[in-house]
Amino acid sequence: MSKALVGIIMGSDSDLKVMQAAVDQLAFFNIPFEIDVVSAHRTPEKMFDYAKNAHKRGIKVIIAGAGGAAHLPGMVASLSPLPIIGVPVKSSNSIDGWDSVLSILQMPNGVPVATVALNAAKNAGILAAQIIGSSDNSILKKMEVFKEKMKQEVEKKSKNVQQKFNS
Ligand code: RP5
Repeated sequence: MSKALVGIIMGSDSDLKVMQAAVDQLAFFNIPFEIDVVSAHRTPEKMFDYAKNAHKRGIKVIIAGAGGAAHLPGMVASLSPLPIIGVPVKSSNSIDGWDSVLSILQMPNGVPVATVALNAAKNAGILAAQIIGSSDNSILKKMEVFKEKMKQEVEKKSKNVQQKFNS
């Protein structure tokens, strides 16, 4: 198996139903990844160790998902030199999802977390692939095909809607 380039971590296994979409997207682009449960609050030492060492194993991007008082992405960003993509999860302890979004989004200057929309682990997978693709031509080409396919799908939908209502 090739060495993992993307690290996917989440605060709890209950986040996996959302984070699975990031897994699927990386598998779609054939990008090797590793995945684990790392909790900022329940396993802070493990979080510290993960954030300090992921780049030494060859990881290039970290996707971190958490819900509620979602400190995992920000804390990992504070310790790691890698780009961190944050996925706010609407979890069982979320009030309405805004708590997860704002905990991950509102980082102080100097410590960015690239925050995707609520539960948008699919976009996190795509963004991670794009970051890897910026220095890997084969991934870049796959991204171009992906975008072209998306365009064609929308054109097809547009034709269908037009046929239904405009003719
Ligand atoms: C967060 O608490 C986790 O990321 C998860 O979204 C939420 C609930 O965790 P569990 O109580 O389901 O383990 O830290």
